[in-house]
Amino acid sequence: MPDTVSSRGLSPIDTAKYAAARRAVEFVQNGMKVGLGTGSTADWMVRLLGQKVRQDNLHILCVPTSKRTADLAHAQGLALTTLDEAQWLDLTIDGADEFDAELNLIKGGGGALLHEKIVATASDQMIVISDVSKQVDTLGAFPLPVEVIPFGLQSTRALIEETLVSMDVAGRKTTLRRNGDALFKTDEGNHIIDLHVQRIGHARQLALALNQLPGVVENGLFIDTCDLVLIGHGDGHVDAQGIHDPAAAEDMALGGKNIFTDL
Ligand code: A5P
Repeated sequence: MPDTVSSRGLSPIDTAKYAAARRAVEFVQNGMKVGLGTGSTADWMVRLLGQKVRQDNLHILCVPTSKRTADLAHAQGLALTTLDEAQWLDLTIDGADEFDAELNLIKGGGGALLHEKIVATASDQMIVISDVSKQVDTLGAFPLPVEVIPFGLQSTRALIEETLVSMDVAGRKTTLRRNGDALFKTDEGNHIIDLHVQRIGHARQLALALNQLPGVVENGLFIDTCDLVLIGHGDGHVDAQGIHDPAAAEDMALGGKNIFTDL
């Protein structure tokens, strides 16, 4: 039986992640099919969801977005299935590397962007859990991950750099993501090229242009995918940012309570 998940002794950043994750799992109801994101914030969510399922005796089915998350979810006793089995999900909860006021995201810092985008897109609702450091006016300070197939890697990289010339961005440097001495490999056996664009003027245009290049599988810009961001803070309080009606989002997400009593 996994240990009870506690926030005691956490650093402010982990408290923020914990608080956002804990609020997000309150959205999960009996019978739901739930997409599980990847990353350190999503890890908190998976552990808290496991605890909630055990305590409330919920019956839910989960689709993980990475092997890492699948292993953690399995250890938590969560019932896992594939997206093909589930077909459509009620809710996906995931982290992000950056989000802007329109709730457009950069994701893929952990390299799981392809499965994350497929799972989030196949969900009625996507909730992002984040600490406040990921909130930006303009996307792009975080290097934009692009997943590419191994064949013709350097040609694809050159094509990406050429494409950036005509885009509204502030930098055109690219790096091949590494894992020690080897190239980083995604769960699909692909590689990641990180684009150091610094500022993305037109995220939708850039996302479309990148995905048109042969060799590119997917990019880390999530446009019109996220419905609600839950922003955790170091003191345990959580803000909500929704796309349609910010006040309603705040109400829906916070339900009148804010700082957790056990923080
Ligand atoms: C994984 O590929 C990413 O998209 C993560 O969701 C993102 O990097 C956030 O990770 P952290 O919660 O660890 O910051």
